[in-house]
Amino acid sequence: MSQNLEGQIAIITGGMRGIGLAIARRLHAEGAQIVIWDLAVDGWDSAENGFEPVLRQSVDVSSLASVEAAFAEVLERVGHVEILVNNAGINGPVVSSWEYPTEAWDKVIAIDLNGVFYCCRTAIPHMRERGYGRIVNIASMAGKDGVQYISAYSAAKAGVIAFTKAAAKELAQDGVLLNCVAPAMVETPLMAEMTQAHIDASKAKIPMGRFLKAEEVANMVTWIAGPECSFTTGFVFDLSGGRATY
Ligand SMILES: NC(=O)c1ccc[n+]([C@@H]2O[C@H](COP(=O)([O-])OP(=O)(O)OC[C@H]3O[C@@H](n4cnc5c(N)ncnc54)[C@H](O)[C@@H]3O)[C@@H](O)[C@H]2O)c1
Repeated sequence: MSQNLEGQIAIITGGMRGIGLAIARRLHAEGAQIVIWDLAVDGWDSAENGFEPVLRQSVDVSSLASVEAAFAEVLERVGHVEILVNNAGINGPVVSSWEYPTEAWDKVIAIDLNGVFYCCRTAIPHMRERGYGRIVNIASMAGKDGVQYISAYSAAKAGVIAFTKAAAKELAQDGVLLNCVAPAMVETPLMAEMTQAHIDASKAKIPMGRFLKAEEVANMVTWIAGPECSFTTGFVFDLSGGRATY
């Protein structure tokens, strides 16, 4: 599989590490120029990461003002955006829903759901105007299944899936395609927020008996983010090692 993304600009939120970095690396290898949005963007190591982004911007996706200012700067500096990958996200605490701290609930929804909405809301008018865009939202199997003890995360990711489907229908005739991916568990720093019991239970649910690799997410996202994905919008691409049943 190879997508020619030469001349395209891709914004990757949460691109400094983990799945976002793997996606950025792969899109760059296919020819795209990468804009990294993350809370902190210092300490980028081009040698280790294998490429140099065209821009790195400190952005909090849970703030519409922060997203709008960063997007305006992207247009000023590089002129256009073809790809937006909404990847920034947090897990939140692993705790029963009736004990879930309300501040933690608000924070998970603010970043994992509102952040996706804010970035889409900001980028879509530009993409519509140009008649081309590919938006890939990183949801989760938790958004399809509902996973015990991470109710805020499950609710946010289910929201991302439904938002993607709704907006995709609105944009179906505009050349702007929105899809999401629903990965099972990947070994990334996000795991630090989880308990060992939660990690073990997640692995046990995967028929392939192993965790997903960030590079495998990147492979799938690269196809969805390119021109070869031309008749699929509002879809949830699973990366579940056989776990997903619908
Ligand atoms: N790791 C998994 O098992 C797994 C499984 C399914 C889905 N996902 C999803 O994949 C995405 C990436 O996860 P990851 O495992 O690479 O996590 P990670 O914690 O390794 O990386 C997340 C990145 O997002 C950034 N970020 C957090 N809050 C932000 C904010 N408000 N604004 C901008 N950037 C912010 C972080 O600084 C970090 O660089 C998340 O949306 C996550 O929910 C992860």
